[in-house]
Amino acid sequence: AVDISKLRDLSGVITLDPGYKNSGSCKSEITFLDGELGILRYRGYSIEELADKGHFLEVSYLLIFGELPSTKELEQFETDIRKYTLVNEEMKNIIDGFPKTAHPMGVLSALTSALTAFNPKSVNVDNEKEMYEAVCKTMGKFLVIATWTYRKSMGFPLNYYDNTKGYVENFMRLMFALPTGPYTPDPVIISAIDKLFILHADHEQNCSTSTVRMVGSSHAGLFASISAGVSALWGPLHGGANQAVLEMLEEIHTSGADTETYLAKAKDKNDPFRLMGFGHRVYKNFDPRAKIIKKAADEVLATLGVEDPILEIAKKLEKAALEDEYFKARNLYPNVDFYSGIIYRALGIPTDMFTVMFAIGRLPGWIAQWKEMRENKEPIGRPRQIYTGHPLRDFKSSDKR
Ligand code: ACO
Repeated sequence: AVDISKLRDLSGVITLDPGYKNSGSCKSEITFLDGELGILRYRGYSIEELADKGHFLEVSYLLIFGELPSTKELEQFETDIRKYTLVNEEMKNIIDGFPKTAHPMGVLSALTSALTAFNPKSVNVDNEKEMYEAVCKTMGKFLVIATWTYRKSMGFPLNYYDNTKGYVENFMRLMFALPTGPYTPDPVIISAIDKLFILHADHEQNCSTSTVRMVGSSHAGLFASISAGVSALWGPLHGGANQAVLEMLEEIHTSGADTETYLAKAKDKNDPFRLMGFGHRVYKNFDPRAKIIKKAADEVLATLGVEDPILEIAKKLEKAALEDEYFKARNLYPNVDFYSGIIYRALGIPTDMFTVMFAIGRLPGWIAQWKEMRENKEPIGRPRQIYTGHPLRDFKSSDKR
């Protein structure tokens, strides 16, 4: 039999850190985050300034290539993305194979993975040119297939990218334009969505981004890695929280219960219920993105003149939780998902699409992190474990078990 104590000697020291709460998995120049002070910066620029003055595509360029683009560079980037917004018509056969009721995130993950089959060369990123093409292809095609998941769920014909319009305006057209008439999206809504995409664009080594880096570390291609990131994002403890927030608020509304009942449920350790949209792994003071979104939500609701009982419940819940000792003691504040769900609803985005919106916003961050990982020639990700199972056992045939 193998002497386990000797094996332990051979393996060296292993640190056990479930959920990697205190483990750095890489060095990165992309995003700086201070959870205590509530600071978030992309490539050295504060999130407040970027959300105020920047546009989604230039912020995407900044994240991916490290510097804000000049007018010429930005135009070239937009042109190159546009080139790749055509998605192979055969992809439609795959979409038709899904039931209409399928969750758009499940469909998006599958379609992103399927892009690999239609673009086999994009797996190779052996030089700068191939890397640039992979970046533009992903930015172009992902937006289109993300909106197709919605069109499919509605039974609407699929739309194509309009080369005369900008990226975020195209998102609205791809989602909502119908062949029965002209469609002009409200500029207030376009600008609010642009801001929301910027706020979601990167957040260092969160669950989905770590997944993208981990999958990519085996030299899997960009589409395959992003597809895995979409699946990781879907979970209700991560990006799926924005949908969960709205569902929770709707449940409070329809049940007629007061917010206190839900607060009590969230505090009850025998009840698995958590207040969705509250708490964050890293921000233990406040989420700077939540502050910006809250302000944007107020502005958009006032401009669009939206009055919604769900929003009233959200405000009541936020106030009650912020004053509650349980939440205060654990530093549980509203996170970005608490407000993003509310604003998406006001903008007319269907609830099932909320996490897809997050994915479109997070795409440049995933790409930037994947690119950095490849360019830094990082080794394949392969954590260790502390084995807690049986010691060596003898095999017994089934009649003796
Ligand atoms: N409601 C009630 N209690 C909570 C909540 C919540 N939303 N979040 C954390 N707690 C409690 C925990 O029960 C725990 O209590 P205890 O110390 O008495 O055991 C304490 O606060 C610490 O919680 P952890 O789970 O250890 O915190 P962690 O950093 O691991 O989790 C997470 C962070 C997953 C975001 C958590 O706060 C949560 O589940 N929130 C709700 C889901 C959500 O909004 N997710 C979106 C995150 S932001 C994003 O992905 C963009």
